[in-house]
Amino acid sequence: MPDFREIPRHIAVIMDGNGRWAKERGLPRREGHRAGAESVREVTETCIELGVEYLTLFAFSSENWNRPQAEVKALMNLLDRFLAEKAKELDKQKIRLLAIGQLERLPAKTRALLDKIIARTADHTAMTLVLALSYGGREEIVAAARSLAADAAAGTLTPADIDATLFASRLQSAGIPDPDLLIRTSGEMRVSNFLLWQISYAEIVIVKKFWPDFRRKDLTEAVQEYQRRHRRFGAL
Ligand code: IPE
Ligand code: IPE
Ligand code: MG
Repeated sequence: MPDFREIPRHIAVIMDGNGRWAKERGLPRREGHRAGAESVREVTETCIELGVEYLTLFAFSSENWNRPQAEVKALMNLLDRFLAEKAKELDKQKIRLLAIGQLERLPAKTRALLDKIIARTADHTAMTLVLALSYGGREEIVAAARSLAADAAAGTLTPADIDATLFASRLQSAGIPDPDLLIRTSGEMRVSNFLLWQISYAEIVIVKKFWPDFRRKDLTEAVQEYQRRHRRFGAL
């Protein structure tokens, strides 16, 4: 078991490898996405047990819109189903749901469902689950820059007022602490436009397994790996 005194406050996960998981089994890619939903359930539960305060899951990137239309559709359908099925569970487990990303690009029905659950779980305190949907780190940073530029143009802000704290307050993640631990499954060693600003000092753990095979034990091991790291933040 991990040391309960050094639990990362915020874990962010790039849930990768669903398609390859399915391909290995001769199944269509959407079956991989479907199987990945079980990993989401187990990882969420384990985070609550460990006392993790924030869990951010990269579920759909800005670039994922460029996939074939049939796959995008299958992913949106799965998301709808996930949200509809999870609504009660999130309530029961006292999980607060948040979402980051260009949510206006999501289908209206998905967005309505999301808004409803976010409102309904707003006061829950067991854990915050942040879904990154239609999310791109660069897009988020550009939007923050635009909002600061608009204030500067309106005269309510001077360029000299802009510092890292003010900038971060304009990101969608405002109020959420930066991730301490970033996990990516499927062995790929890249960030793929995820939380570019927020991961500046995150510890990165790459796991070879595909996301649908990532379970409780794998999360616990990643946390133990995190606990063996010595975080220096540029100092000694
Ligand atoms: C991750 O699995 C889920 C999404 C990006 C939506 P992939 O669909 O990227 O699966 P691989 O990486 O192609 O195996
Ligand atoms: C990152 O995985 C996005 C999500 C997990 C949602 P991708 O599969 O889209 O990233 P690349 O294409 O391997 O960089
Ligand atoms: Mg992938």
